[in-house]
Amino acid sequence: MTQSFSRMDQSTTEQWMEIGRQTFGNQPRVAEKVLGMLRELASITDGFAVDQLVHALQTATRAERAGADEQVIVAALCHDIGKLISVANHPAIAAEILKPYVREEVYWMILVHQDFQGKHYYELLGKDPDARQKYAGHAAFDLAAKFADDWDQTAFDPDYESFPLEHFEPMVRRVFAQPSSY
Ligand SMILES: [Fe+2]
Repeated sequence: MTQSFSRMDQSTTEQWMEIGRQTFGNQPRVAEKVLGMLRELASITDGFAVDQLVHALQTATRAERAGADEQVIVAALCHDIGKLISVANHPAIAAEILKPYVREEVYWMILVHQDFQGKHYYELLGKDPDARQKYAGHAAFDLAAKFADDWDQTAFDPDYESFPLEHFEPMVRRVFAQPSSY
């Protein structure tokens, strides 16, 4: 194997080809990391009626039962994984994890999901429930609205029967199998 460099300004094409080969070969670790994060969501409840893994599974199950495609279902499953790091900016964290693996409208749906959710509770917190209106006219507005109104804001029901995480694992592995670009 090629000895790699100690500083980038001394690197060679051959070394970068080896790094690229190994990075490509290790791509499956992305899906496994995401699945591990999803399992870890079971440790977060923060006062809601269900833990964050149940919420994620319920959101994704509702999306699948509504006929959403695989990228949308996986995005629904992952939409709150940013809460593992920081609730305050969790939509952007999840959106960036998904970005190389889903089409633009699916990325955007997750990026703005909190402002769309706001319709259902922002007023209680003294915030603008019409926060989503600043995105009026956006090509993915209707998708983001459907995500928030039909799948996400409704997914706190302890009695809802969701598919288990195992059901979604093959989808997660397919969606994260190949980034569209580096
Ligand atoms: Fe959510």
